[in-house]
Amino acid sequence: MQLTGKKIVLAVTGSIAAYKTPQLVRLLIKEGADVRVITTAMAGAFVSALALATVSKHPVYSSVSDGTSWNNHVEMGLWADAMLIAPCSANTLGKLANGLCDNLVSAVYLSARCPVFIAPAMDEDMWLHESTRYNVQRVRSYGNQIIPVAHGELASGLVGEGRMAEPEEIVKYLAEALSDDNKPLKGTNALVTAGPTFERIDPVRFVGNFSTGKMGIAIAEALADMGAKISLVLGPTHLGTYHANIKVIKVESAAEMYDASIKLFPQCEIAVLAAAVADYKPKEMALEKIKKKEETLDLNLTRTNDILASLGKKKKNNQLLVGFALETTNELENAIAKMKSKNADMMALNSLRDEGAGFGHDTNKLTLLDNKGYNEQLPLMSKKESAQAIVKHILELRHAEKTV
Ligand code: CTP
Repeated sequence: MQLTGKKIVLAVTGSIAAYKTPQLVRLLIKEGADVRVITTAMAGAFVSALALATVSKHPVYSSVSDGTSWNNHVEMGLWADAMLIAPCSANTLGKLANGLCDNLVSAVYLSARCPVFIAPAMDEDMWLHESTRYNVQRVRSYGNQIIPVAHGELASGLVGEGRMAEPEEIVKYLAEALSDDNKPLKGTNALVTAGPTFERIDPVRFVGNFSTGKMGIAIAEALADMGAKISLVLGPTHLGTYHANIKVIKVESAAEMYDASIKLFPQCEIAVLAAAVADYKPKEMALEKIKKKEETLDLNLTRTNDILASLGKKKKNNQLLVGFALETTNELENAIAKMKSKNADMMALNSLRDEGAGFGHDTNKLTLLDNKGYNEQLPLMSKKESAQAIVKHILELRHAEKTV
């Protein structure tokens, strides 16, 4: 059984290939998956909800509300380990490409944080139309996977490209993609720190920074996608992640982040410290709210522990330590000096001077450095792509280490 315990939302849309979906559900269940089916209104013309409900052993939903009850699309999107849209009609593909949301399937798709697999099905002329080509490219660029269409007899009677892949092929594709077996970081534990830290001044105030944790979360997800098991030590942020390979440990202060990281590091082969840790905290926290009295107020601050430097001191030969450097002057020299003084193997230099880079943005512009003299300036790219570039270099460093 290749899909044991995997929770899969199957979205069926209006295409003749929908008649094959009860068989698809059967095969997914046979491989150990837990399957919930949703459909568009048009799907009902090609396959009955009763057939799908019977084989999946769960109710089939087709609208966000049934008049009296609310089918929570966000909950469904978060529940799933994978979403499979099969068959995906040209119409639904167009909606996915453009972020339209006028039915349950598109709402679940937009809410899903899991990998999404799309098995298109349409006539060859529709499949080859320029707009469909463009839509396929767009949905791919969002990180979704397109299960290749097959060649064969089409509903129009013509023979050509555009048939939905056979249910057996779809199940095989999913099993391969969802299994960690062939992934380069299978069996590897990694520690990632992310987000800001808050240092309490009194019960209602803190010293903090503008980090949202977006970059660190993207790194945890990119490592997890490679099969690693991640402990994500996350400072106070509204952002989160639901990846099956990521365990989130929520902390508030630099001291809590330090304690969690020191405890986890010995079991990890990779540590990426992306958190914006406060360098100073109030020397003492007032137990009562500080009242407004004088014109000025002096805050007495004291140094926090440097987590990266502390892990650098404890690092063993089989451990790879990656830090971030946020610099505003002499960026390269400062980042290299930081990498050496903290005994990191690799550093991602983040410059606040570049537009679109840094706290809160969706994009970042990094320079990757390592202790062997590697220096690569990445272009402005999404934090997801930046994270993938960091993970790619981590894999190269590990590979180089093994082949020495
Ligand atoms: N870092 C850490 N613990 C701290 C401070 C920083 O683990 N108490 C880590 C960060 O997560 C980052 C790296 O050290 O990976 C560099 O952080 P940065 O803020 O650029 O540098 P600092 O060491 O704080 O030095 P400075 O603020 O003087 O530039």
